[in-house]
Amino acid sequence: MDFRVRASTKEDCRDISRMIMELAVYENMPDQVKISHEELERDGFCQNPFFECLVAEVPEEHKSKDGHTVVGYALYFYTYSTWRGRCIYLEDLYVMQEFRGKGIGKSLLSKVAAVGKEKQCARLNLSVLDWNTPSRDFYAAKGAQDLTDSEGWHFIRFDGKNLDSLANEAPKD
Ligand SMILES: CC(C)(COP(=O)(O)OP(=O)(O)OC[C@H]1O[C@@H](n2cnc3c(N)ncnc32)[C@H](O)[C@@H]1OP(=O)(O)O)[C@@H](O)C(=O)NCCC(=O)NCCS
Repeated sequence: MDFRVRASTKEDCRDISRMIMELAVYENMPDQVKISHEELERDGFCQNPFFECLVAEVPEEHKSKDGHTVVGYALYFYTYSTWRGRCIYLEDLYVMQEFRGKGIGKSLLSKVAAVGKEKQCARLNLSVLDWNTPSRDFYAAKGAQDLTDSEGWHFIRFDGKNLDSLANEAPKD
């Protein structure tokens, strides 16, 4: 099937927002999605964007059952390793179910790798849920290492009240 991978624009934020929810449903955590397409527009398309995003688009004649032509996305941003320097972090990779198995996911992932290489990133990092064996296998087939297995890293988060109280304990200037 014909498709192309391109950098997203502000106008893609409704499609990206729709697919963020579809991915969260797939991951069994739709209640955790609190972001709106307006916030994506603000944060991805400002002077110093918080993220960049690629979308996969099919021609009109191959649109989805619901009439969508933007059928996949890869959202990423830059991080820094004190051991290795510049890194790229893939936050989301998603292809709509009816378009899977056609090479779209692989193209999105490769393009993120190419963007990272272009920016001299030493690593492409991402997280995947334990039970998501198809995606874990997909990444492993492309040569990814599972750091939980090999190095025992845990994925840690502060949010909500815990983040508030931590911030409130900060020394005042
Ligand atoms: C993971 C996902 C993005 C892959 O996209 P896709 O378009 O279906 O994958 P592709 O068609 O590009 O597959 C590319 C290659 O990976 C292989 N592959 C795909 N799924 C695989 C699997 N479960 N196990 C091993 N290899 C797999 C394909 O055989 C193909 O290999 P080839 O290049 O040797 O032919 C897609 O399945 C998806 O959106 N899944 C649900 C959401 C998700 O889990 N996202 C990741 C969250 S971390």
